[in-house]
Amino acid sequence: MAMEPFAIGLTPADYEKHGALVTRRTLSQLQALYTDREAVERQLAEGDPVVYEVYELPHPNDETDLLVNITVLYPGKVGEEPFMTKGHFHAEPDTAEAVIGLSGSGEMLIQRRNGELRRLVVAEGKISYAGGGWSHRVINTGDVPLVFFAVSGANIVHDYDTAARLNFK
Ligand SMILES: [Fe+2]
Repeated sequence: MAMEPFAIGLTPADYEKHGALVTRRTLSQLQALYTDREAVERQLAEGDPVVYEVYELPHPNDETDLLVNITVLYPGKVGEEPFMTKGHFHAEPDTAEAVIGLSGSGEMLIQRRNGELRRLVVAEGKISYAGGGWSHRVINTGDVPLVFFAVSGANIVHDYDTAARLNFK
């Protein structure tokens, strides 16, 4: 079912009011992303922080919709590695995704299946565009929440496994 047209504010609160699906990812769910196992264990012994929240609109959606999500990626580190989203390719057909920074600062790491890696800035007033064929992960390099808007086709299928094998190295 395609969603009714809408015009709302570009904030998590506005999205939530408009019925967004909210997904919270905690460190325990994401611990496999980090290489410093001791740092993971140390942090989890003290609690299970929320690393990021995704506010997904439209919800529910139709495959002909555009996903217009807002993500809040909290500041933090596990060992030397900053808090990050779970990187993924879009399964074939591998379509593009664009990210617009709303506040905070970070980077979008993008990687092709042949291993080629690039880094794009994510900051207020910047659009960062990952064309088809580039996996993508956002990292928070600052000390305040990194809030960003992302848009992709609603027909995407997330492929986390290929990106995890390459792991943006
Ligand atoms: Fe994506």
